Parts: sequence; structure tokens; C-alpha cells
Amino acid sequence: MTAALEIRDLVKTYPVRNAFGRVSGAVRAVDGVSFTIPSGGVYGLAGESGSGKSTIARMIMGLTEPDEGDILIDGVSVLGQGERAKVQMVFQNPGASLNPRRTVGQSIKVPLVAHTYQGDRKGRIGDLLDMVQLPRHFADRYPHELSGGQKQRVAIARALAVSPRLLVLDEPTSALDVSVQAKVIDLLEELGRQLGLTYLFISHDLSLMRNFAQTVGVLYLGKIVETGPVARVFERPGHDYTRLLLASVPVISTEEAAMRPVIPLINGEMPTAEDLMALRAGLNPKETAR
Ligand SMILES: Nc1ncnc2c1ncn2[C@@H]1O[C@H](COP(=O)(O)OP(=O)(O)OP(=O)(O)O)[C@@H](O)[C@H]1O
Ligand SMILES: [Mg+2]
Repeated sequence: MTAALEIRDLVKTYPVRNAFGRVSGAVRAVDGVSFTIPSGGVYGLAGESGSGKSTIARMIMGLTEPDEGDILIDGVSVLGQGERAKVQMVFQNPGASLNPRRTVGQSIKVPLVAHTYQGDRKGRIGDLLDMVQLPRHFADRYPHELSGGQKQRVAIARALAVSPRLLVLDEPTSALDVSVQAKVIDLLEELGRQLGLTYLFISHDLSLMRNFAQTVGVLYLGKIVETGPVARVFERPGHDYTRLLLASVPVISTEEAAMRPVIPLINGEMPTAEDLMALRAGLNPKETAR
């Protein structure tokens, strides 16, 4: 069977500048990376800051061209084609990736217009909000009126607008509260099943990856130093760097957990100020479903 995504020996070098702005060398940000994701699969790319994760994501998206190597989507090389509708991306910071002056509906409409969606656009926006489990009237809201989790749901709806086959998730939940992270991951899993999506899931949070990915690649200084089924890599890491990454997963002690303030969660998410006001007034904040 043809893989949904295959990347072969990707290399990307960036110039390094000295304090005077002169090029003094080069950094191989991505140094011969290859992996394959079968259709409907979830591949987790882990690695510390600066290891090259986002550079790989940008090359797959067509936002940066590689110096060497090839990228195949559904078995066809896509190099030099610019942005591609089959692949969409969800970024780390939903606040920064949504235009504050556009309503939710207007933001979701952008890719529909860019890819000349012919059908009923308003209906499509409503359907996309249904898919990410937000009320349809959220189409008229502005980003500042939404919680972090809600904003990321809008970003996911926007990414799904043009029915991509592959979603690149670059740290999609690292800006969110832990309880919200799990909700967003659950949603992504459900959408993946329903729509038959293939995911490249980038994260430095190995505990999230363990629950979501089937195969994991550990990136270190632009190279994949370890790869395999997620359970094997976690239980028997073969590389020192993987062990180091696993050891740095924070563990909250019971003492620390006890000191945390108790906040009523709404649908598993932190309440917004609006929700707290509703709670105090004896109203049901669930009306503003996240
Ligand atoms: N546009 C650029 N110009 C010069 N160097 C760059 C550029 N983009 C990335 N780099 C360098 O390439 C390397 C990999 O960066 P990249 O952003 O891919 O890492 P990352 O794994 O996504 O890190 P993080 O976890 O912090 O997001 C780093 O050394 C970075 O400084
Ligand atoms: Mg990055």
C-alpha cells in the first residue's frame, strides 16, 4: 500500500551569522531524515528545542524547500509545488495563529476562498464547527472571546476546511492547560478515525505521544537517532538521548498536587472569567461549550 507521507533523506541547512551579521558557518537543522507514515497512521516526532522538528514540518507544508531529499504524498513527489491542500497544519500557539480582527467564521472561510470551495460556504463553516464540537454561533465570535482550547478547536476546523488527508500538528497542545490538552487530543483522535486522517504529531511531551502515536521518531541535532513502535521505544529505549528525554518528563509529587488551587473544570477545561461569573450567578456555564 502507498504511504500517505514518505520523506526521504531530507536535508536543510541554514546559514549561521556572527554578531556583525556576516555568514560565519552553516547549521544542518535537518540532516538526512527519512520516515514513512501509512495512511491513517499517527507518527510522533519527538526531540528537544532546536532539534529540527518545525523545519521538517515547514518542508512538508511547502513553506520551506529542502536542500536535498524528497517528499512524497500518496506516492507522488510534491517538491517545488508550494503550498498543498492535501496537507494542513495546526500550530503551537492558537492565539497567534488566528487573526484577532477576524471572527471565527471569517478565519475558517480563508482556506475555503483560497482553495475556491464551490459549495455552500456558510453551511461548511457550521459543519466544521460541529466537527470540532463548538456551537455554530461561535462563527460570530472573535478570538479574544474564546478560551485557549476553543481557539485551538477553531484552528483545527480551519485546517480541516479543505478536507486534507494529512495534518501536521506542531506542538498543538503545548500552550494549553494539561486538562485541556487531553480533550484536544481526544478530539484529534476521533476526527482521525472519522475522516481517515494521517497525522504527523510533533511534541516534546513524550507522555502525550505515548497515548496518541503508533510509531515514534526521536530527533537529535537534525537526525533521527531512534525510531520504532511507541511502546517499544518507551519501554526499552535504545539510545541515551531517548532515555534523557524520557527522564525529563515532569512528574508532579502528591505534595505539589495538593498545593494546586481547586478550580471547577467545565467539560474538563479551565473555566473562563465568563464561566466563573455564570457559576456564581447560579447559571450553567456548559451553555458556552468549549
Ligand atoms: N529561518 C531560520 N534561519 C536560520 N536558522 C534557523 C531557521 N529556522 C530554524 N533554524 C535553526 O534550525 C535548527 C532547528 O530549528 P527548529 O525550529 O526546526 O527546531 P524545533 O525542533 O522545532 O525546536 P522547538 O522545539 O524550539 O520548536 C535550530 O538550530 C534553529 O536555530
Ligand atoms: Mg518547533
